[in-house]
Amino acid sequence: MTARKIIIDTDPGQDDAVALLLALASPDELDILGITCVAGNVPLELTQKNARMICEVAGRTDVPVHAGCEAPLSRPLVTAEHVHGKTGLDGPELWEPKLQLTEGHAVDFIIHSLRRHAPGSVTLCPLGPLTNIASAIQKAPDIVKRIKEIVLMGGAYFEVGNVTPAAEFNIYVDPEAAKVVFTSGVPLVVMPLDVTHKALATRPRVEAIRALDSRAGHFTADMLDFFERFDVAKYGSQGGPLHDPCVIAYLLQPELFTGRNVNVEIETQSELTLGMTVADWWGVTDREPNAMFMGDVDADGFFALITERLARL
Ligand code: RIB
Ligand code: CA
Repeated sequence: MTARKIIIDTDPGQDDAVALLLALASPDELDILGITCVAGNVPLELTQKNARMICEVAGRTDVPVHAGCEAPLSRPLVTAEHVHGKTGLDGPELWEPKLQLTEGHAVDFIIHSLRRHAPGSVTLCPLGPLTNIASAIQKAPDIVKRIKEIVLMGGAYFEVGNVTPAAEFNIYVDPEAAKVVFTSGVPLVVMPLDVTHKALATRPRVEAIRALDSRAGHFTADMLDFFERFDVAKYGSQGGPLHDPCVIAYLLQPELFTGRNVNVEIETQSELTLGMTVADWWGVTDREPNAMFMGDVDADGFFALITERLARL
């Protein structure tokens, strides 16, 4: 089986980091053409540095890392240090990575990659605000028909928002970018909070990762020890939700997830509900379905996959 070509667009972020490690540990299934970084959880100079550190933890300094947009399309950047800490990767000891950024803006890398590889052969995997993806589509509309699929983490419906009562962070930070992506016509698979809040890094799951007793195992467990604080305090949940790894787990074992093909529109006008993903879950409109919107996950299977792959690093 040939490995699936992907580009991971990310704003590390502890959960992004676990998603990256999962992907970097799966070279037989995933051919990572590149990692493109975007401002989100923390500013761009930190997200790109964190991505380079994570490649070093995985021993995958062969993967090019590009820096992308440092602010949303048309709004000031909103960050989430209160969740991820000042560095964006609080928890483990951090260092100045030796791996350098690869030349070239992330948006141009996305465009060139899609033009270079066969139409329909490259999957985009956004794990943060959609600024890089939307910028690439706006700069080079010809790439839209060349994208196989966009599998993204973002949005919420039954679970409602985590940054406002109505909106999930990735969509809220750049709702205009999200609107470009959700109206592009590219096949979408969406991992909203409805499913990611069911993928909780409980104590036994974190301890199973720590028990790997490897650099990647300790790095991940230390990140998750820090990352859970916000959600445990806010929701009383049993651990931190592994939002972004749901995207990569879907590529590796789609059967872990269930959802519904529905219409999803993005609110970009109302201050009250800005960034809301309005999912027509019950089909009450005649709006065309544009996204496979996930609602459930086999959490034990999900963590078994993550732990098994981390053990390979
Ligand atoms: O709302 C959760 C999302 O926002 C995750 O991708 C997390 O990393 C942050 O980017
Ligand atoms: Ca993220």
